Amino acid sequence: MTTRRVFSGIQPTADSFHLGNYLGAVRQWVDLQASRDAIYCVVDLHAITVPYDPEQLRRRTRVAAAQLFAAGLDPDRCILFVQSQVPEHTELNWVLGCLTGFGEANRMTQFKDKSSKGGADQASVGLFTYPVLQAADILLYQADEVPVGEDQRQHLELSRNLAQRYNHRFGPTFTVPAPYILPAVSKITDLQDPTSKMSKSSSAPAGIIDLLDEPAAIRRKINRAVTDADSVVRADDEAKPGVTNLLRIFSALSGDPIDEIAARYGDGGYGGFKKDLGELVVETFTPIRERTHQYLADPDALDAMLADGARRARVIAGETMAAVRDRCGFPAHP
Ligand code: TYM
Repeated sequence: MTTRRVFSGIQPTADSFHLGNYLGAVRQWVDLQASRDAIYCVVDLHAITVPYDPEQLRRRTRVAAAQLFAAGLDPDRCILFVQSQVPEHTELNWVLGCLTGFGEANRMTQFKDKSSKGGADQASVGLFTYPVLQAADILLYQADEVPVGEDQRQHLELSRNLAQRYNHRFGPTFTVPAPYILPAVSKITDLQDPTSKMSKSSSAPAGIIDLLDEPAAIRRKINRAVTDADSVVRADDEAKPGVTNLLRIFSALSGDPIDEIAARYGDGGYGGFKKDLGELVVETFTPIRERTHQYLADPDALDAMLADGARRARVIAGETMAAVRDRCGFPAHP
């Protein structure tokens, strides 16, 4: 049996990834290197769908890659590359865009969320077709599974539909990808607004723990996390969303089941529970932060690792695109 392939991507749109990115995606990426053929991507082309500054993007792309290597991605066990270094992504994006219905793209809820501030008229066409480029990312590598958080489920459904549609019209070409979503960590919520997703674009700084936060900031944010008035540590999504979110984070980082943690702290108040959780996050993030700064201290070496990743990715993407060009009726590249 051949090894299953996983593909996933992350946007370089902040100065640091956050706890939601880490638990919902990056940690799975690291784990899956052991059992899968793993390909991961810093999606800088997706980052330009909203107004941006080129120098900031250049810096954030490196910071993103450094964090991923620091978190445990190993170039001997996976491919990590930057999307814009593999031009096949934009080429397949065009082909898939011509197979996507306007109404179908218009049903994507993330576009509605992201364009809600300025209104759809102000949003770019790139933001509107963002999920098509995401489908191109996944399908180019013939991925079997895509490890992501819950917020990406609808985009993956579009990727599956486009793969099936293309295969049906032009002959079997793409693997139809399945989502790889772990329910326990697929929606980490904002520490100040525990019914909303922790999000780099919409959370206030106090609601979000950054992977590169200093220990004092991590402890403070967890101490101040919104809970409730009854001071019993137990999981209840409806009545106690804040405590339940903290329990999920605690369980994911410690490996202990939620019931066991709830029984340990019980009705002893939230102080000790939050203090221990703060230490757990600090212990997990400190080595990653330190290694990230080590990678960033040598940008040439980091760029060389990414260039190597892009070369390896292009071999696979190039094979898929050659088949696509042929099936679409385009001449082969000279
Ligand atoms: P992005 O950059 O917004 O987020 C990266 C990953 O983090 C997950 N995530 C969360 N998981 C749990 N709780 C949260 N609060 C939370 N916030 C974010 C996201 O689900 C994601 O897995 N469209 C993608 C990037 C992308 C991609 C792809 C993903 C582009 N091409 C191809 C997979 C395959 C995005 O914006 O992720």
